[in-house]
Amino acid sequence: TAAAAADQDLAGKHVVVSAGGTRERLDPVRYLGNASSGLMGLSIARAAALRGADVTLVAAHIEHPVPSGCTVRRVESTADLAETMTELSESADVIVMAVAAADFTPRTRAESKIKKASESSGLQLDLVQTTDVLKTISHARPRPQVIVGFAAETATDADHLLELGRAKLARKGCDLLVLNDVSGGKVFGEDDNRIVVISPDDVLGHHSGPKSVVAHRILDAVHSVAAR
Ligand code: CTP
Ligand code: CA
Repeated sequence: TAAAAADQDLAGKHVVVSAGGTRERLDPVRYLGNASSGLMGLSIARAAALRGADVTLVAAHIEHPVPSGCTVRRVESTADLAETMTELSESADVIVMAVAAADFTPRTRAESKIKKASESSGLQLDLVQTTDVLKTISHARPRPQVIVGFAAETATDADHLLELGRAKLARKGCDLLVLNDVSGGKVFGEDDNRIVVISPDDVLGHHSGPKSVVAHRILDAVHSVAAR
């Protein structure tokens, strides 16, 4: 049936989905992390597998079990992510960057546990910027592929959200950007999501609902762009 055919619209495609939050090591026992649960990326990986894709999940720290039927590559830091994504981009037809990648990492990693210098001393961290993985892979493109970025922004209203999204999409050089407004402090760890999908010249759609459903709407957008 037509429905069954549409269900398999990613058959034969290698879809690479990064998910979760990276961790940047400070010393042997501490790291800088973030609040991503990994749920959105996991939902996309699962949805892509259901639609027939050969899925590689690049998993940073995630708080949920990984879906069966995906090849899993574990990464810790943004540097690890950069290396793994660059390798996988050689064979990927679709790349979805749902991971929350640290923007900053310690300039040096302490070999032994950082100790308090005195009873009242604080601690200054010296951080440097990480590689922008999305921007790097969007500019490299060793083969034709659809590249999807994510952006969680705190916007004053819907127009401001679009303005921030358009600027970010242009800066990154990706094909689609999934935008969400996190002004209310929502989304992280929640089951539901409210998103806007944009391309360089269009607003492709507004979607809200469980991440498992929103994931399919994001893949619909990928399919529509790939078919152009
Ligand atoms: N991203 C990435 N590498 C980084 C940081 C972010 O690949 N070092 C990706 C994220 O996975 C996401 C997209 O870039 O798909 C946008 O992330 P975001 O944090 O919104 O963008 P930044 O360029 O880091 O901008 P900001 O200063 O607003 O955090
Ligand atoms: Ca960032």
